Amino acid sequence: MIGFLRLRSGSADTVDRVPIIEHNRRMTDPVRAYVDKTRVAYDVVAQSYADLLRDSVAESTWERLVLGAYAEIVRGPVVEAGCGTGRITAHLATCGVDIRGVDLSPGMITTARAEYPGLDFSVGSFLELGLPDASLGGLVSWYSLVHTPPEVLPRAFTEFARVLRPGGRLLLGYKAGNAKRTLTSGYGHAIELDVYEHRPEHIAELIAGAGLTETMRLVRAAEEPERQPQAYAMAVKPPGRG
Ligand SMILES: C[S@@+](CC[C@H](N)C(=O)[O-])C[C@H]1O[C@@H](n2cnc3c(N)ncnc32)[C@H](O)[C@@H]1O
Repeated sequence: MIGFLRLRSGSADTVDRVPIIEHNRRMTDPVRAYVDKTRVAYDVVAQSYADLLRDSVAESTWERLVLGAYAEIVRGPVVEAGCGTGRITAHLATCGVDIRGVDLSPGMITTARAEYPGLDFSVGSFLELGLPDASLGGLVSWYSLVHTPPEVLPRAFTEFARVLRPGGRLLLGYKAGNAKRTLTSGYGHAIELDVYEHRPEHIAELIAGAGLTETMRLVRAAEEPERQPQAYAMAVKPPGRG
């Protein structure tokens, strides 16, 4: 849930409103370590990420194929959880989807707002979205689980399932495999960031464990400059589940 830290700066009468993530207080150490490391890294790379990937959906047949299919079947409202600089949120909006974006990194959100001023972006964590139960028709996690340690994944899927209404649709894009890498540079900057591949069979177990039904699973070979196969999944919240 997003809160605001009230800071005094300049004259005694000046009060700035600085967004914080309230659930920081309730995070366990592995969760806090992952969240803090990820936020810091993406704050550093935000503008370079936008510059490098601005046209990437137009250049990727696979992304357009999967996102286009999702746009045809999902009914809003939809949240892209881990929207980064907004390229996927913007593409789905262009396809007619009622969508907004949420991301951990204030830097990514500032850049997303500048890139796509007509769309709604806010700072927040998909581990605690601060939305009512069953309030969304769709939730998209497009490569936003790539930094989530395996032990934290069940918590993310529980939150995804909680906010979907019955009939609501989950869409995932992720790196397929079983490896973990720690980057020391990325997008032209020195950063420290863990990147996890996930096994499609394990993702299917997490989907089922959260009470969702997997409806599509697609794994494709790596294409230059990718290092590993890429996977996509869709799931639906069964009717009758709260
Ligand atoms: C590889 S980028 C993908 C961004 C966007 N979905 C895209 O495809 O361009 C991963 C993004 O996930 C965000 N992220 C990672 N963990 C998150 C969390 N717990 N809550 C919200 N955003 C998260 C990061 O801040 C980063 O912007």
